[in-house]
Amino acid sequence: MIITIDGPAGTGKSTVAQRVARELGFDFLDTGAMYRSVGLEALRQNIDLEDASQLERLTRDCHIEFNWSTQPPQILLNAQPVESLLRSPEVTRAASYIATVPAVRQLLVQQQQRIGHQRPNLVSEGRDQGSVVFPDAQRKFYLDATPHERAQRRVNQLRQQGKTADVDEVLRQILDRDERDRNRRAGPLVAAPGSTIIDTTHLSLQEVVQEITRMVRAL
Ligand code: DC
Repeated sequence: MIITIDGPAGTGKSTVAQRVARELGFDFLDTGAMYRSVGLEALRQNIDLEDASQLERLTRDCHIEFNWSTQPPQILLNAQPVESLLRSPEVTRAASYIATVPAVRQLLVQQQQRIGHQRPNLVSEGRDQGSVVFPDAQRKFYLDATPHERAQRRVNQLRQQGKTADVDEVLRQILDRDERDRNRRAGPLVAAPGSTIIDTTHLSLQEVVQEITRMVRAL
């Protein structure tokens, strides 16, 4: 059974998807980490983020793998663990640009679909999982929250890590990423047909996880 969870940045998708997968005994696929890995490699190789053909070549050469025996699965880029490098502001921004390139998306979508064949009980999280990658998924969810709430959550997270963060600045970055996610030609962020939309603005993480697992179990 494939379950998709899509939505904009800062809705808690990743944590929710991870917990739902654990509750159900499914595998968890973080597709954002794949775009981030290509972003990291582009920065390492100093590739122009506007150059679609170089980015396509780079994506073909990147070997992205998940170690499914760890929880959450460890991501390996060219055989090296990279998870700790994927959340920096530079990689976040690079991934957001790279994700607008249709040829890059096509390559990563194919890889995600292959994973779906190999790991048939999967909770897959991203922007286009229900709309493009797994249109026949048994259950699709779309998480949303107001931009202000999403910015506030991100700021709280950063402060917990001992970092300083300004809500207005984080809000600006979120709106900027939303704009690129929603308006790109290939795989734009949309609520896939047949998806259940959950507005998480006033819900706790636990409430969202419970709602999703309840609906999946009711199938
Ligand atoms: O979910 P995230 O913040 O880790 O995603 C990183 C970037 O990748 C973000 O800019 C959106 C993009 N992305 C995408 O376009 N499609 C996906 N399926 C997952 C992420």
